[in-house]
Amino acid sequence: MSGFDALAAAARDARERAIAPYSAFRVGAALRTADGTVVAGCNIENASYGLTMCAERVALFKALSEGHREFTALVVVADTATPTAPCGACRQLLWEYCGDIPVALATLDGIAAEHRLRDLLPQPFDGRALR
Ligand code: THU
Repeated sequence: MSGFDALAAAARDARERAIAPYSAFRVGAALRTADGTVVAGCNIENASYGLTMCAERVALFKALSEGHREFTALVVVADTATPTAPCGACRQLLWEYCGDIPVALATLDGIAAEHRLRDLLPQPFDGRALR
C-alpha cells in the first residue's frame, strides 16, 4: 500500500474511459484536493489532433470547475513499460493551479516513479513574472 493507492485506482478507472481513437494511447489521471476529494480524468482526442485534451488537464479543469482550489497529489497512469510524465502544457497548468505537489507516475503494474512538480517544471513562468 502506498499513499497513492486510492488516487492510482481512480486514475486507472478513468483511463478505461479514455477517448483515444487516433493514438490508441490511453491515459488516466487523478488529483487529490485539500479536502480529500479525488477528481479523475482521461485523455479525450479529436480528429483535428491539436484539440486533444490530456488526462491531467481534464482532471484539473473538472476539479477547478467544481470549485476546488487546493491540491495535494496527482497520479498519472498509462499502459507503458516505463512511466508516462505530464506533457509541458499540463506541467504549466498544474504548476499554476496545484503548485509543488507530489506527482506519481504509474504503469498498469503500479506506481513506477514519484516526483515533485517543481522538479518536472524547473524555472517556471508564472504569475510572479507579471508583477
Ligand atoms: N496524453 C495524456 O493524456 N497525458 C500525458 O501525460 C501524455 C499524453 C495523451 C494525449 C494524447 O491523447 C495521447 O496521450 C498521445 O499523446
